[in-house]
Amino acid sequence: MILITGATGNIVQELIPFLLESGKSIRVLVRDESKVAHLDTCVERAVGDLDKPETLVSAVKGIERIFLVTFETHQDINLLEAAKRAGVQHIVKLSTLEATDHKIQVGKWHYEREELIRASGLDWTVLRPGMFMSNSIEWWSDSIKGQGSVFFPGGKKGRVAPVDPRDVARVAALALTQPGHSRQAYELTGSELFTIGQMVQVISQVLGKPIQYVDIPPIAAKLFMLKTGMDKALVNALMEMLKSLRKNEGAIVTDTVQHVTGHPQRTFEAWCREHIEAFQA
Ligand SMILES: NC(=O)c1ccc[n+]([C@@H]2O[C@H](COP(=O)([O-])OP(=O)(O)OC[C@H]3O[C@@H](n4cnc5c(N)ncnc54)[C@H](OP(=O)(O)O)[C@@H]3O)[C@@H](O)[C@H]2O)c1
Repeated sequence: MILITGATGNIVQELIPFLLESGKSIRVLVRDESKVAHLDTCVERAVGDLDKPETLVSAVKGIERIFLVTFETHQDINLLEAAKRAGVQHIVKLSTLEATDHKIQVGKWHYEREELIRASGLDWTVLRPGMFMSNSIEWWSDSIKGQGSVFFPGGKKGRVAPVDPRDVARVAALALTQPGHSRQAYELTGSELFTIGQMVQVISQVLGKPIQYVDIPPIAAKLFMLKTGMDKALVNALMEMLKSLRKNEGAIVTDTVQHVTGHPQRTFEAWCREHIEAFQA
């Protein structure tokens, strides 16, 4: 039995169909069961919270492998503690590309969590994806629908190779169900480098409507995030990421998705075509 955390998130929504196809038994850890009402009835539900260790004991009972999505280091600690006690064998952890050189804070946080898992004595696989293509919905769909514009402090020159969450999920599914992925850290990106302006252009072409990209000053983004009540340390970490993007330090392309899955990475244009209704008013 495989336990999946982050069941309503970008990656796991894509992961569950792959695992069901492979015939594996799965259990999802959810804070609110009504959010997974749409899932097949063969998927077991465990109500729990990574912040509350007492809720994890029954969730990990009878589990061999775990797909782990966390946001704070204490969540990894809580889950690992319960997993070790329950005799879990293997953890597949969703990390981030920035953990590779762990120079900036976001990478440091994820690397610290990876290290806990490596030190746990359990088998592990670490997935280090770059920017998800689905961020473009989270960040830009409202202003595209409302104002035909994208306001983002992404600069004009910095490039990224966004990865389709489905490609990350395909790698995760293999790591969870096939041998040969233990003690591996996989850096996962798309195959094409884009500036933010070029990403916006692809959405615009697929949508068949002009979209203006406005490179807003980073300080404006910082003040906006702080005003919405976001944690100051998180805001500072995000600002560091933006600085790195603007300096073109994130222009990394790997062929790991293709190497591990045997499939070429999905393109941003194909992803946009599949999700275009998210950008339509
Ligand atoms: N976005 C990117 O470009 C990117 C790139 C590389 C790495 N990452 C990493 O990917 C991870 C996010 O993955 P994602 O985008 O698939 O997730 P997501 O869409 O952000 O969704 C978060 C999931 O985690 C669950 N969750 C949050 N807090 C929880 C808690 N205390 N206990 C139990 N479940 C909890 C949420 O459940 P609810 O439905 O209850 O809220 C939801 O299912 C983060 O670690 C991030 O650093 C992101």
